[in-house]
Amino acid sequence: MFRQVIRLLCCSVVVVTFCEIALSDDDTNIGRDAFESACSGCHSHKLVVPRAMSRTQMAELPPEKIFKAQKEGLMLIQAAGLNEIEKRALAIYVSKIPWGTVREKKAAEKLSQCDTSPPLAADALEKPHWSGWGLDLDNTHFQPADRARLDIDDLENLELKWAFGYPGATTVTTQPAVAGGRIYLGGPNGGIYALDSKTGCAHWKFETGGAVRGAILITQFEDGRFVLFAGDREAMFYAIDANTGEMLWKDKADDHKWALITASPALYGGIVYVGLSSFEELAGGSDVYECCTFRGNVVAYVAATGKRLWKSSTIVEPLEKTRQLANGTQLWGPSGAAVWSQPTIDPKAGVLYVTTGDSYSAPAAATSDSVLAMDLKTGKIKWHVQTYAGDAFTTACALPDADPAQKEGCGPDVDYGSSAILRTLPDGRRILLAGQKSGVMHALDPDKRGEIIWQKQLSPGGVLGGIEWGFAADDKYVYVPISDVWESSSAPGQAGGVYALNFADGREIWNTPAAKPDCLERAGCNAGQPAAATLIPGVLFSGSMDGHMRAYDPGTGKVIWDVDTKRDYTTVNGVPGTGGAIKGAGVTVVDGWLYFGSGYGLWGLPGNVFLAYGPK
Ligand code: HEC
Repeated sequence: MFRQVIRLLCCSVVVVTFCEIALSDDDTNIGRDAFESACSGCHSHKLVVPRAMSRTQMAELPPEKIFKAQKEGLMLIQAAGLNEIEKRALAIYVSKIPWGTVREKKAAEKLSQCDTSPPLAADALEKPHWSGWGLDLDNTHFQPADRARLDIDDLENLELKWAFGYPGATTVTTQPAVAGGRIYLGGPNGGIYALDSKTGCAHWKFETGGAVRGAILITQFEDGRFVLFAGDREAMFYAIDANTGEMLWKDKADDHKWALITASPALYGGIVYVGLSSFEELAGGSDVYECCTFRGNVVAYVAATGKRLWKSSTIVEPLEKTRQLANGTQLWGPSGAAVWSQPTIDPKAGVLYVTTGDSYSAPAAATSDSVLAMDLKTGKIKWHVQTYAGDAFTTACALPDADPAQKEGCGPDVDYGSSAILRTLPDGRRILLAGQKSGVMHALDPDKRGEIIWQKQLSPGGVLGGIEWGFAADDKYVYVPISDVWESSSAPGQAGGVYALNFADGREIWNTPAAKPDCLERAGCNAGQPAAATLIPGVLFSGSMDGHMRAYDPGTGKVIWDVDTKRDYTTVNGVPGTGGAIKGAGVTVVDGWLYFGSGYGLWGLPGNVFLAYGPK
């Protein structure tokens, strides 16, 4: 270890004196001291700060990733006081994995090129396919029978057909698009892969600037071209030719330093809508950062050209200077109200429904933790319902020794991470279902400016949900997986579970508590079910942080199928594959096949695989 550090430090582009300091010191001490001074306040062995992984979990990340997080990633501000040598020594000190493993893994990737790449058939979107996150304008996450082509009886006949390994990744939360025998996969290290949906061979890879976090949407233009839409971690939004992988247009949707696209796009009437989010809440934990100036927003583009029609902020109050910290750092607000999910389109009312996250620096915006109805044509907010007022949160809120001015007005961080679902009752009344990290399911009347019809507290809720990435609905019931990961940290195994409610009145139909995890000896293993649910006729899918993908009987809540993904895999692209926790996207079901990713290295079991199950 000692020798390795010396070599690495000296071949990095740092001034010679740094190398000399490193050579004459004990590198392990440099790493340990740097970690203790800059990181351990949040990343100790025990979970203290929500979402900040424990020291033990960080050891599972490759050192390159820990280094990069400090140099240019999420921990830029937290590591601002460290020099390059310290950042690197720290990364090597913390990680169990030798430096260089990521490069080896990346080098091991050999995309197996398909023999031929015929263009998609003209009727590819009339056949079984999957496009985007919510699957319909209502965002039900329900895949109809003629597209799913999978029955309850087919489940036991499924087997793993191929696995794809993302080189060097520890987290896989991608929701692909599937059409015309191809699957389009977003990469946690960036890029969009077009693979054969049955064999995993590659047609092409499109390079993006950052990770693709949201779903990929596929559509067909009037001239017959098939086009993909997706956003990335650098807040860049792309339109790509689905046959060739050529870019049609791209747009930097937001210039804020901490902005990113996590939300999945929605398409209606030739206009594509996408929401913006950010990680500024993390930077806001630092007392040298002028927190916070990012404001969530939605951008509308002409799908064919990329021309921006409008960009609408989720916050209407002006951004102003608020307080100063004891050290003179200026704070700003209101900020936040990020958009993490796909907008729900309501052509009848002429609006899109957008759910927002918490505010960052206090005072909280009037529109954070809210459901907004934005005009489809202008983006103007027509009405909004705030379901948790005064929720201003940055990581400073969780730090015992943060400046009191940073902690002023701290709220519980109960964002909306999931899309609202629009449903129509048999009598024609409509209902808008919004599930929050607070653990509450809210039913609003979209035709009465969001008037609350009923509310139901399903779980304690909190920073890691409650209701986190998404729920699903048919014509009668809404199916809601529960995360509660953070709440379970003191008693792992008590999080998770799934509820089915009658959405007309909120009545509970069944609830199935989570199974006791079979991996509690591992850091990051727990029973939470933060991943989005997917529904097909007769089967509900919900993944778990314990690495299992389970299918439930939507009528009774009984578990009818269960596969444990946390093991090693041989992959079609030659990258050693490992499965871990399941979080983020839901299962993609198309033409009798299931597709989903496994691995969540942030505060769960790391992994890097995307799995395809088909009939034996
Ligand atoms: C103020 C609290 C705080 C401090 C101090 C802090 N972190 Fe973090 N860190 C977090 C939180 C919260 C997250 C989770 C971010 C998220 O929500 O995705 C995180 C995430 C990370 C990640 C994962 C990043 C990724 O892109 O997946 C790494 C690696 C990390 N921290 C390393 C460090 C290191 C190294 C230090 C010290 C230089 C440090 N952190 C200091 C709170 C902190």
